Amino acid sequence: MATHPAKAKELPMPPPLALVVGVGAERGLGAAVARRFAAGGHRVLVAGRTAAKIAAVAQSIAQSGGMAESHVADATDEGDVLRLFDRAFGNPPDPSAPSRDGDADVVVFNAGTIQRSGLRDVSVARFEEVWRVCCLGGFLVAREAARRLAPRGRGTVLLTGASASLRGKENFAAFAAAKAGLRMVAQSMAREFGPQGLHVAHVVIDGGIDGERLHAARPQAAGAHEADTLLDIDAIAEAYWQIHRQHRSAWTQEMDLRPWKESF
Ligand SMILES: NC(=O)c1ccc[n+]([C@@H]2O[C@H](COP(=O)([O-])OP(=O)(O)OC[C@H]3O[C@@H](n4cnc5c(N)ncnc54)[C@H](OP(=O)(O)O)[C@@H]3O)[C@@H](O)[C@H]2O)c1
Repeated sequence: MATHPAKAKELPMPPPLALVVGVGAERGLGAAVARRFAAGGHRVLVAGRTAAKIAAVAQSIAQSGGMAESHVADATDEGDVLRLFDRAFGNPPDPSAPSRDGDADVVVFNAGTIQRSGLRDVSVARFEEVWRVCCLGGFLVAREAARRLAPRGRGTVLLTGASASLRGKENFAAFAAAKAGLRMVAQSMAREFGPQGLHVAHVVIDGGIDGERLHAARPQAAGAHEADTLLDIDAIAEAYWQIHRQHRSAWTQEMDLRPWKESF
């Protein structure tokens, strides 16, 4: 009588990983994006420079039934970014390897810092710091994402911009220069890697975000806002999720998001 080999036990496929860089307060955009991808079934690697903040975000995702871990990384430090991507994609990365279940399929760059002062008062150190966080950090994260995702012919890279990505205004020279630079990195990358299957999108946040940063900096102004005239973090995060879900025959390269009453 013929014997049948035992049927190989089928292991459940690990869900894809979302890497979110630039996460801080729970009531911040980075945390909201991490929560949205976790709710969509991704494992999330929550990355930022403050260990306690990112651990809290990962923990609250886990408590809600999602999968998340945290990883401390300064986006302006090339070594940190390489180590972060090694963790997300495996080390050493094998660009020729076919994509596996459980690989990262989305990378979000959300880190930011702002400088608000007249041009004459902007120090070289502060101008450079704003550029390092908003632009160089975005370049380092985008470059690693391209190195790891493009050879696999799939994936999404999302970069957070601001009104200043499109126009310079009084008191925002450093921030506008840095955010405009990030936008150009995103455009260049989209044109280079889109035809290889990598979806790169830049999101212009054109208004104040109803989050920790604004409430800490200007509590009275933030509290006095009419309903929905600051951007809701979960509403922005939903847009990031929807961009990631787009069919490649209809990709967004740039999306602007603003509250209903914002003038533009
Ligand atoms: N807030 C607004 O009204 C507004 C408006 C338009 C656009 N944006 C943009 O939206 C994004 C999110 O802003 P948000 O205010 O909601 O803040 P958020 O998502 O809470 O925070 C962004 C996080 O980036 C982190 N970060 C700063 N430098 C970093 C670095 N070198 N490496 C790694 N992480 C770093 C900060 O960490 P720490 O918390 O540890 O400092 C901060 O928490 C930013 O790109 C910002 O420019 C914000």
